[in-house]
Amino acid sequence: MSDFIETLITQAKEAATSEKPTQAIRALLQKLVSEPAALADAFDLDEETMLYEDENLSLWYTQFTPDTAVPPHEHKVNAHIAVFEGAQCNFLLKTGGDQLEIAKAKRVSAGEVLSLGPDGVHAVIAADDAIARGIHIYQGELSTIQRSLFDWETGDAFALNEANYDANERTSTDLPDRFKSALAKV
Ligand SMILES: [Fe+2]
Repeated sequence: MSDFIETLITQAKEAATSEKPTQAIRALLQKLVSEPAALADAFDLDEETMLYEDENLSLWYTQFTPDTAVPPHEHKVNAHIAVFEGAQCNFLLKTGGDQLEIAKAKRVSAGEVLSLGPDGVHAVIAADDAIARGIHIYQGELSTIQRSLFDWETGDAFALNEANYDANERTSTDLPDRFKSALAKV
């Protein structure tokens, strides 16, 4: 692992175990994405990668493409999303009604940080016709947490596992119409 990533892991662990972890993690991510070129150089990965995980945090390199949307899901812990290349479209979603409702389609561009609370439900795709690369920090050991996916149409919850995740990814052309129109305007 590169020195840059080793240093990032050390800094993320310090932030996650500090007195005010949420604020410290956000400040760390904000500082990192203010120099996007350094991050772009440091990450020569070409797929989503878990860089580090313990009981206090999970640190991920992420990338989203314009043609595939990750399915609606929750995290059960605070999630911090920082983008250093391209832009993400985050569909912020409301469950519990007759259909899955888009509360907001939020663009997160390079240099920006978005935080979601433990109950926040989102689906994500690249906002533009280019890959969106970023760093995500979750305030818990994500791989050990039982989480839910939510049906694109009804919002009904079901178990998040690899098979369900893969089966519920959607190409941009197969998104429900309300998602397509929100994406076009984001
Ligand atoms: Fe997420």
